[in-house]
Amino acid sequence: MNLSLKGKRILLGITGSIAAYKAPFLVREFIKQGAEVRVIMTESASKFVTELTLQNVSKNDVVTDMFDKTLQENGSWHIHLAHWCDCFVIAPCSANSLAKIAHGFADNALMALVLALPKEKPLYIFPAMDTDMWLHKVTQKNCNTIVMHGGAIFPPDSGELASGMVGEGRLPEPSDIVSKITDDLLSRKSLKSFLKGKKVLITAGPTYERLDAVRFIGNFSSGKMGFALAEEALNSGAEVTLITGPVHIDTIIGVHRIDVQSAEEMFEQVCNNFSHYDLAIFSAAVADYTPKNPLEEKMKKENTGEELTITLKKNPDILAWAGKTKSEHQRIIGFALETDNEIEEGKAKMKRKNCDMIIINKANAPNSGFGGDINTITIMAKDGEYKHYQPLTKKECAKEIITKAIQLF
Ligand code: C5P
Repeated sequence: MNLSLKGKRILLGITGSIAAYKAPFLVREFIKQGAEVRVIMTESASKFVTELTLQNVSKNDVVTDMFDKTLQENGSWHIHLAHWCDCFVIAPCSANSLAKIAHGFADNALMALVLALPKEKPLYIFPAMDTDMWLHKVTQKNCNTIVMHGGAIFPPDSGELASGMVGEGRLPEPSDIVSKITDDLLSRKSLKSFLKGKKVLITAGPTYERLDAVRFIGNFSSGKMGFALAEEALNSGAEVTLITGPVHIDTIIGVHRIDVQSAEEMFEQVCNNFSHYDLAIFSAAVADYTPKNPLEEKMKKENTGEELTITLKKNPDILAWAGKTKSEHQRIIGFALETDNEIEEGKAKMKRKNCDMIIINKANAPNSGFGGDINTITIMAKDGEYKHYQPLTKKECAKEIITKAIQLF
């Protein structure tokens, strides 16, 4: 028999959603696949399904009260449990618990465990609730926040709900939950050390081109795609350096971060570092032009009059430079943000800049490009073969890109 989760230790969090009645079946499904399961419930969850049932099916004590005397014996029970598990699955996850996770609450045992979970251990969340609650902007925003902090959200299924209404919000069947988790755990395992020993250089974010002492020309790039790539490369075992323009994203622990402002500064850093790297991914939105004569002082409108002409000069094309300079063992990946004719443009760009792969995305499409957490990408290989992807979170895009990048070696 093929036990897909053999030896895996799964922490299952259950929250107060009517779908909690499926949780015992989920526990049995995990166990059937060879996993060991420990259950942690919120108080509301225990109104829908009993602790006793879950204790029996999981064959382990269930945690509901974080101050329970029997838990305190060895101290810091939440830290021990968080370190014990291979992954933390929350199914079903209510709107309330999603909100708490997004904002770092630790007011019950389950929430304390979410915060205590070590960064490298996956957090899988399966929301289940009424359609309007699920589609509410606040719930969606909370999901985005959780994804940005490294959690994986598996959207609910559509179908009949406990209220009798039909729509999005159903908890997927236990067997589907188990196969989604198995797939993800396996892909992580297979990716884990593929870039071990490889050095990866990534550019990210916008560049700011100085006009005067207080002004610049910039763009709306958030840097999210480049940071997600850096994290994924790190998770695949690589040594990662991230050269980033001005962004509002926390530094990823384990990634060497170099902050720059202008295209010229980014170019200088790439030139200094490039030869030491096996793979370079150029996801930065680098300004093509920069003011020719930036002023040291602040420009005054009294001196410039009704119209102002600024002369721009061309910036170095960093990716094109890398394409010309790279040696045989090095691979480079570029990005092509296009408004029209993206496949042809991407193909031409790959050739012009001598890339080994290019990631095409549309600048003017919904769920694509700058700013948001979602991107719609097409990955094109050197021979022009390409694959379109459905809109994915930037983290998921990064996973696809790094998986393909591994195949370049
Ligand atoms: O030619 P275009 O700017 O559309 O090409 C986009 C790709 O080139 C991206 O990978 C971007 O990071 C890179 N690029 C660069 N230096 C520039 C302009 C673009 O590295 N000055």
